[in-house]
Amino acid sequence: SAYDAGEHESFMRKEILEQPTTSLAVLRGRLDDRFGTAHLGGLDMDARDLRAVRRVKILGCGSAYYVGQMGAALIEELARIPADAEAASEFRYRDPVIEPDTLYVAVSQSGETIDTLLAVQEVRRKGGRCVGLVNVVGSAIARECDGGIYLHAGPEVAVASTKALTNMFLGFALLALQLGRTRDLSIADGKRLVAGLEKLPAQIEEVLAGEADLVEVARQLAEARSLFFIGRVRGFPVAREGAQKFKEISYRHAEAYQTSELKHGPLALIDPEVPTVALVPRDELTERNIGALHEIDARQGPLVVITHADVDLGEVRARRIDVPRNEPELDPILLTIPLQLLAYHAAQHLGHDIDKPRNLAKSVTVE
Ligand code: AGP
Repeated sequence: SAYDAGEHESFMRKEILEQPTTSLAVLRGRLDDRFGTAHLGGLDMDARDLRAVRRVKILGCGSAYYVGQMGAALIEELARIPADAEAASEFRYRDPVIEPDTLYVAVSQSGETIDTLLAVQEVRRKGGRCVGLVNVVGSAIARECDGGIYLHAGPEVAVASTKALTNMFLGFALLALQLGRTRDLSIADGKRLVAGLEKLPAQIEEVLAGEADLVEVARQLAEARSLFFIGRVRGFPVAREGAQKFKEISYRHAEAYQTSELKHGPLALIDPEVPTVALVPRDELTERNIGALHEIDARQGPLVVITHADVDLGEVRARRIDVPRNEPELDPILLTIPLQLLAYHAAQHLGHDIDKPRNLAKSVTVE
């Protein structure tokens, strides 16, 4: 059962390996091949409501906030609505301006995170509309929201979230698609994304099948006292999430940076002792990203590059990890999976209690 790790050595690994199945559950019954859209009845918003949205503000904490940043990028790209994510723990303390034509989206696995719950209450008290992307059915945040979608990842036990985060990303893709198709997103693009989403679960499985190849890399990363995770635009929230996961269970200092910002400061820290995990998908920024890899390599910084098979890294010395290609907008999720495995195997190598990392609780329900 979900509460029994069975033959797995931990819940985290069990939950990582469940993703090909759990990711199907969030998509089931919500995709429309014919019109290239998604149907999210639980939002309780008709086409007119969806068209009236002028801005999207996503609220969540920790990893949910980072996936929220991935979601904001998807919404802005597909629906052409200005969108951003903010840490709910900050939002609720800054007397935010609540706009009637902004759609607020609370994102939470547990549905009980106090900062996110209070952010939702702040939005609603000031007359805003807040929908939820929540995993736990009937949880406080789900009840507090105006509507929303359940993530159907099943119970998640490990403190380090994996399968719920994947479903959050997919939930945002569905939302972006539905918002987009009530506005300027073409039917051709809609169909392209529906097809991309339909093939994702099998591609996640493909990445997981490469687990054995990542174990040695993870062990090497575990030996470092400090490391960087870098990415840009679509890849930056992925880097943030990768660094977060690594910190949570390996207790190593891991810092996420925009690849573009490296030369504005952190390059000073690069040396043979400080590895960098770089996200370099095949997209409009590939060549620029490779330029940054050269800068790191020239300073003997060890490099692990998560990329696509058709990306030519040229002379750069790096350990590469290839993930399958999908539609570029959906890249973040396939780039995230190897980062889960790297964090997991690093912590495993260090002998840590993976499911219950020190100082952390599964959900932070008190202030
Ligand atoms: C995830 O690995 C973390 N343990 C943590 O950042 C978590 O995502 C955050 O506390 C939010 O939890 P929630 O999704 O239950 O609201």
